[in-house]
Amino acid sequence: METTLPTMDQSTMHRQEFLRLVGTSIGAILLTRCMAGCSGQGNADPTPDPSQKVDFTLRLDDKANENLLVKGGYVIANGVIVAQTKDGQFVAVSADCTHEGTQLVYKSADNMFYCPLHLSRFDTSGKVVVGPATLPLTKYTTEPNLTAGTVRVHN
Ligand code: FES
Repeated sequence: METTLPTMDQSTMHRQEFLRLVGTSIGAILLTRCMAGCSGQGNADPTPDPSQKVDFTLRLDDKANENLLVKGGYVIANGVIVAQTKDGQFVAVSADCTHEGTQLVYKSADNMFYCPLHLSRFDTSGKVVVGPATLPLTKYTTEPNLTAGTVRVHN
């Protein structure tokens, strides 16, 4: 019995050439996805920059800031988390966790800022209370003017 092999013409690709092209394409796709995934979450460099000028005023009659009217409430604006503590003080720190840049939340019961991702905690001065974060947050000065219905935040 005789077996005949198909003959190769110009349109037939060699197996090695095919695998090389497929391998290159898959590598390119994986590299692109990794680069997008690695930079898509949080802040690329979560280290706060205390030299960055911050100076803005929140109007308390603005719907976006209504949480600040409540003791224990907070808002995030311009990369800063501003909270009214249970005793009525306004505090403000940089809003991104210094570990991997996750946006923080304020927990009035503990009077601390929490990271929901890996559970770092910061006090109201921005100091790390519980890691894995090791760097403090940037603390900002708050100037509430309840007569005018505003809170100025600056460094
Ligand atoms: S990103 Fe906040 S503790 Fe990891």
